[in-house]
Amino acid sequence: MRAAAVATLDTKNWVKGPKGKEFGQRFAEHCGALVAVPCQNGSSSLWAALRILGVGEGDEVIVPSYTFISSATAISLVGATAVFVDVEEDYWCLDIDEVKKAITEKTKAVIGVHLFGQPCDPKIIDLCKERGISFIEDAAQAHGARQVMSDSLERVAGAMGDIGCFSFFPSKNMAVGGEGGMLTTTVEELTNLVSSVVNHGRSPSLESMQLGSNLRMSEVSAAIGMIQLKHLDDWVCKRRDIAELYNSKFSNNNCVRIPQIRPGAKHAWHQYCLLTDKPDEFVQHMDQHGIDTRRYYTTPCHQQSVFSEHSQFDKILPVTQILANTLVAIPIMHEITESEVQRVIDGVLSFSTT
Ligand SMILES: Cc1ncc(COP(=O)(O)O)c(C=O)c1O
Repeated sequence: MRAAAVATLDTKNWVKGPKGKEFGQRFAEHCGALVAVPCQNGSSSLWAALRILGVGEGDEVIVPSYTFISSATAISLVGATAVFVDVEEDYWCLDIDEVKKAITEKTKAVIGVHLFGQPCDPKIIDLCKERGISFIEDAAQAHGARQVMSDSLERVAGAMGDIGCFSFFPSKNMAVGGEGGMLTTTVEELTNLVSSVVNHGRSPSLESMQLGSNLRMSEVSAAIGMIQLKHLDDWVCKRRDIAELYNSKFSNNNCVRIPQIRPGAKHAWHQYCLLTDKPDEFVQHMDQHGIDTRRYYTTPCHQQSVFSEHSQFDKILPVTQILANTLVAIPIMHEITESEVQRVIDGVLSFSTT
């Protein structure tokens, strides 16, 4: 990465150069999308996806509330209304029955978050197709996730819906040495829009054809991203091995419940999360053993102050609430050593006996 970054700096070709194009091509090949376009970060990719699909004032977009805040605020930023729905008890992604109930004449898109690396229910993508609703994959946490779709073919995250949105924030399954994101599409008619939205919506003749902005990724970041992409599959396999080991060690434990994997899915394990009725005690216990843990989305999106005027602000989404109250992530990453994994296992198992 260091050599690639320095070589790119030395070219003095710091923006709009060949590295960004090449990174996009390789990323598209990796996930099987028609095109992939590097951009500034995951949040701007979500904004861009909604703009490309023409989502705006008067439109509704269905989104889970149990997610990172920008899955929802991107909708407000284009002037549309977020319709928050509950997630599945087992897999923690959008619940298809809740999606069906939430669809109205105003529904223009669904943002399906592949949460923690678990792909969304592919039947929601079929439902969206049937109803003429666009499906945006929020794949910020799902680089390398795979899912067998209803046509029995396996697809990679970023090539399941209409537009895929990725983040390369440093904690993600792959990164670019700074902020970064990627837009992908599988829809022929959207390829030009996806390519140009990051560059002021310009056509090759430099005329702005659609509303876009400068969302471009720097060449140094793209050069680093290409190095990381080469390792992505191996790194995700390593995460899968660790998750499998954790699942086998914790499956009969009375104090924690293990994450479930959707049938047909190859989870990308951005996070490995356990459910426990005593999350504070669990975090404290792991802390005492020198093991990092994280609680995620303890205030679901629709209950954050930014949505205090939203009609669903006071609504309780039952599964979302359970996850907010009980979910704790334990370390999973490709760099983790065998002895560190064992320390994590010992830490969790000793919690059961305290
Ligand atoms: C599910 C989800 N969506 C969107 C984003 C936004 O990505 P970024 O931080 O690159 O803007 C993140 C990042 O944490 C995320 O986890």
